[in-house]
Amino acid sequence: MTWQNPLRDPRDRRLPRIAGPCGLVLFGVTGDLSRKKLMPAIYDLANRGLLPPGFSLVGFARRDWADQDFAQIVHDSVKEHARTEFREEVWEQLSEGVRFVPGSFDDPEAFERLRATVDELDAARGTDGNHAFYLAIPPGSFGTVVQRLKQHGLADVPDGSWRRVVVEKPFGHDLESARELDRALSEVFPEDSIFRIDHYLGKETVQNILAIRFANTVFEPIWNANYVDHVQITMAEDGGIGGRAGYYDGIGAARDVIQNHLLQLMALVAMEEPPAFDAKTLRLEKQKLLSSIVLPRRLDLTTARGQYVGGWAGGEKVLGFLEEEGMPPGSTTESYAAVTLNVENRRWAGVPFYLRTGKRLGRRVTEVAVVFKRAPHLPFSATSTEELTQNAIVVRVQPDEGMTVRFGSKVPGTTLEIRDVSMDFAYGGSFTEASPEAYERLILDVLLGDPPLFPRHEEVELSWQILDPVLEAWARKGKPDPYPAGTWGPESADAMLRRDGRVWRRP
Ligand code: BG6
Repeated sequence: MTWQNPLRDPRDRRLPRIAGPCGLVLFGVTGDLSRKKLMPAIYDLANRGLLPPGFSLVGFARRDWADQDFAQIVHDSVKEHARTEFREEVWEQLSEGVRFVPGSFDDPEAFERLRATVDELDAARGTDGNHAFYLAIPPGSFGTVVQRLKQHGLADVPDGSWRRVVVEKPFGHDLESARELDRALSEVFPEDSIFRIDHYLGKETVQNILAIRFANTVFEPIWNANYVDHVQITMAEDGGIGGRAGYYDGIGAARDVIQNHLLQLMALVAMEEPPAFDAKTLRLEKQKLLSSIVLPRRLDLTTARGQYVGGWAGGEKVLGFLEEEGMPPGSTTESYAAVTLNVENRRWAGVPFYLRTGKRLGRRVTEVAVVFKRAPHLPFSATSTEELTQNAIVVRVQPDEGMTVRFGSKVPGTTLEIRDVSMDFAYGGSFTEASPEAYERLILDVLLGDPPLFPRHEEVELSWQILDPVLEAWARKGKPDPYPAGTWGPESADAMLRRDGRVWRRP
């Protein structure tokens, strides 16, 4: 057997992972996502020394800009939104690789210019033919753009190089459109070159669900229907839809986040242990779990949807959903959605998973709460345990990242009184390193060609299969139920849990 230096083991995930020679072409540079998340994340990666020295960033948009104008836009977005400190020398180096190509998606000449730019970068900055095309644009344009990339030779992979395409959700608006979208992409790029971003998977706390479950012995033995009563997955936002009516109307809370972020979270919480942490087995376990999810029969009783009405939230007077700028009058799009999902396998039979999300709720918080059954027998008087609820393990995804274990404890004193207490793990208290932003991790993974955190098309399809019947039932019903801004959603959502003898957590 030959000796292997463990420091050279490519599976050693502790080594800094630095991207090799490459560039990123960004479509949709004028959008919010690019400005608030993508450009700052690219700078943060450069600042952390994780990008190659010749890294290039090409912006493509229908704007009459020169390279310097685009560089200024990137500069301003970095200054405003980057996570790490601004360092002139890092910016100088990064900005040398910034280029801009003006043009529209249907303009062949613009794609010729793009091709010439990419060639120039390969020659001048040593990007070696390695380019990722990031489509931060409405999915309706994915097909046109990838076809253009193909026609102009940009999807052709020079020997020893790579070409990848990165797409952002929404991956369609139902199963059928998701399939069409996938057909359009896979006509040009092979599956292993398509990177679908679900930015929740890039979050430290979301990845930590796997570490918590599979690196410890104390949790997994009780992580099943023998001990778990139910699971609540909450993604609550205090903000409204602001200036996003154009995107949000007709999409709504379920398509916007349940189809992707919340179902992915559920998959990580409920799946079986993968044999290894590689893309193939991890995705396979998620896929298996997603294919075991079934909806209850009575969707009218086991789902809820709402729309916020104006009022006071956080001491501020806020508009109702229908009054938001650009919202068509009478829109029936939901800003709140809750669903009950069952998992038909031995581990989870009989344990409901309640998923909820909404805009203009009481607080911005995302968490996964695994709520346990009551002890089968309490050798205490009923009055001693009046304030004891159910044990729970809560993974706090954001903000205030960490985990809480809730259990009963005796209240100090001469009587026997048992009350809930919690044991807390907070990132800030245990680690000195700040967590990277989700997009830093995901962009780096794209450039490294590391796929575990990117959902496969099969997962996207399965998620739509789960949600489509709910969306159809809601469409037949008409209007969502109103809820006042700053509250925890419509009454129907509380009624949904009440029927099961349970209540939503108030994080
Ligand atoms: C996006 C949704 O995917 O996630 C938005 O489209 C939502 O509607 C956002 O506001 C929330 O992301 P985060 O990372 O702030 O929880």
